[in-house]
Amino acid sequence: MKKIVILTSGGDAPGMNAAVRAAVRTALAEGLEVWASHSGYQGLVSETLVPLDSSAMANCIQLGGTILKTDRCQAFFEKTVRQRCAHFLKSKLIDGLIIIGGDGSFRGATLLQEEGGPAIVGIPATIDNDIEGTDYTIGFDTARNTALSAIDRIRDTASSHNRNFMVEVMGRHAGFLALDVGIAGGAEYILIPEYPLTIDKLSRKMLEPSRKKMSSIIVVAEGENPGHTLDLAKKLSDKTGITYKVCILGHIQRGGSPSALDRKLASLMGHTATKMLINGIMNKMVALQHDQLILVDFPDPQQPGRRVPDKTLLDLNDIICK
Ligand code: F6P
Repeated sequence: MKKIVILTSGGDAPGMNAAVRAAVRTALAEGLEVWASHSGYQGLVSETLVPLDSSAMANCIQLGGTILKTDRCQAFFEKTVRQRCAHFLKSKLIDGLIIIGGDGSFRGATLLQEEGGPAIVGIPATIDNDIEGTDYTIGFDTARNTALSAIDRIRDTASSHNRNFMVEVMGRHAGFLALDVGIAGGAEYILIPEYPLTIDKLSRKMLEPSRKKMSSIIVVAEGENPGHTLDLAKKLSDKTGITYKVCILGHIQRGGSPSALDRKLASLMGHTATKMLINGIMNKMVALQHDQLILVDFPDPQQPGRRVPDKTLLDLNDIICK
């Protein structure tokens, strides 16, 4: 292993920079040459690699976003484009590739490997925490803290005015972000795609005579349809006569300085990824399972990602939100 490329791909996640920094500096310490592909796979598609040295990593550990830029590169899903990328990497004598990103990024990694690309080690990074094979993805902790601090602020105004709010959080098809933010934010209900609650059922709960709330917050996962909470709030108001204000947190959840947890795990994962490439490991993802860093296969692109596995926390919230 002499020359490696690093890229960040898919939605940015706070902590990506810490992973890049650790991977680059570990590689330099081992005498490797390190290059970046900017904007995810796009750098490979446009056949542009940028050299990275230690000073390029200065003062980035605390930054949100990704200094390597990112993209959801559509062109890369074409076989002929991937073949060209694999050929380009070979012509540049690249032996290893570190890919930091979410599900789509690993789908790309699996496809590149089929075209005879270099050895790849992946690092899971997405605020959705929805990658199969790992209990944790870089960025999740920062995003849930960002959403939580927004909810705390909404609670101040909700309780001052005796108002009800619905707050929509990201997470794509998974409810991990909504679940954690809902529990920690004292939400009355948490609506996640894995365990949907019908409007009728929710209305009945809101109209129970024992309900005494003057103000409340319902946390709603965006699911497949970001923005759907506006419609949901209207339907619930029509059925119950209770008015809801809606706040869609959106991309604010992706930004900001990474938490200590994200910086630390990203640093450990970045270091491990480089070490694994040097040790001859290929086509594996660094994963956290039961507080241990291990290596797993790339997630199966045919399978949906990781989902909230059971209702335990929702049932608990039903008891403590009353
Ligand atoms: O996967 C991360 C994520 O932030 C999801 O939670 C969200 O649904 C999606 O990306 C938004 O993607 P984009 O920024 O491309 O609109």
